Amino acid sequence: MSDTAPLILGIESSCDETGVALVQSHGGPVPRLLSHALYSQIEMHQAYGGVVPELASRDHIRRVLPLTSQVMQEAGKTLKDIDVVAYTRGPGLAGALLVGAGVACALGAALGKPVLGVHHLEGHLLSPFLSADPPEFPFVALLVSGGHTQLMRVDGVGRYEILGETIDDAAGEAFDKSAKLMGLGYPGGPALARLAEQGDGAAFKLPRPLLHSGNLDFSFAGLKTAVLTQAQKISAVRAEPVEAWPVNVLADLAASTQAAIVEVLVKKSLVALEQTGMKRLVVAGGVGANRLLRAQLNAQCQKLKVRVHYPELHLCTDNGAMIAMAAAMRLQAGCQQANRNYAFDVLPRWPLDAITV
Ligand code: KG4
Ligand code: ZN
Repeated sequence: MSDTAPLILGIESSCDETGVALVQSHGGPVPRLLSHALYSQIEMHQAYGGVVPELASRDHIRRVLPLTSQVMQEAGKTLKDIDVVAYTRGPGLAGALLVGAGVACALGAALGKPVLGVHHLEGHLLSPFLSADPPEFPFVALLVSGGHTQLMRVDGVGRYEILGETIDDAAGEAFDKSAKLMGLGYPGGPALARLAEQGDGAAFKLPRPLLHSGNLDFSFAGLKTAVLTQAQKISAVRAEPVEAWPVNVLADLAASTQAAIVEVLVKKSLVALEQTGMKRLVVAGGVGANRLLRAQLNAQCQKLKVRVHYPELHLCTDNGAMIAMAAAMRLQAGCQQANRNYAFDVLPRWPLDAITV
């Protein structure tokens, strides 16, 4: 590896997005993104109402090498310039992870370069470092993805302490499942959020689970059930199924659902800031793209003189840039885990606080 400016190729394939990116550590505090490319499989899975793991794996196989050529070309680099090949080792769908890991290790072996398995959530967590205004350590992180909802104390790269997490569904899952029962398709989170903009968030009374629990854990499974019950009530009163509702009624239910999820996320984030005494909050993961969440966090944090950092909107959901960035930051922090043994494995379940630098 060249000492001055290691070039890292990052490959993400944990779920339904194939992402590839090139990041270079150039001696500054934050490595630089040179290029990234993404192929989303959402359209393919839409017909099934959710991700079909076998189809996801097969599609990653089709996309990963063409995307790799694309990022090399866009950055004006060749494969020989790569110093480290990073890939998502977990958590995620086993078959999908194996595609990225297999290709990364084959590339590493062919080039004689080390490979580094990266934790997908560490990628999300460090994705705000790809923005024009990166955070500084330490900070409180609210990690809100399709599969995870966690509040974390982050003291540096690889120094993650979970302060609280969901005991059942994740916030993204609450968005997606509620959207599905409203007939908004997959993944319903963004569609529900769009519809909610036209609705009244106070129209229907929905629970705020664990809001006053005194700890930093979340629970969203009951909320989804409450949305279902509310939808059934509305259908009974109107004597028509959800598909026949006028758009304003659907928008009101979407807005009420979003308001319940966002209120819990915001309140718990504020408690985490208070408990840790920190003045910096980082929001990451797909739900971090939610406009109401951003607006409410910005407003509350401004009052408390807390700075909030987000990934750029297009880097909130899964992408290769965050994996390359996490790898680059790990290497910069002295991580010794890049290796040449190419006998890879993947970790479909992998707690974030199990990793170190
Ligand atoms: O982080 P991510 O891409 O995937 C995982 O690692 O799980 O997050 C995807 C999740 C999905 O649940 C999706 O519905 C949600 O993020 N999401 C949103 C928005 N954009 C994406 N939820 C609410 N509002 C949005 N604007
Ligand atoms: Zn993700």
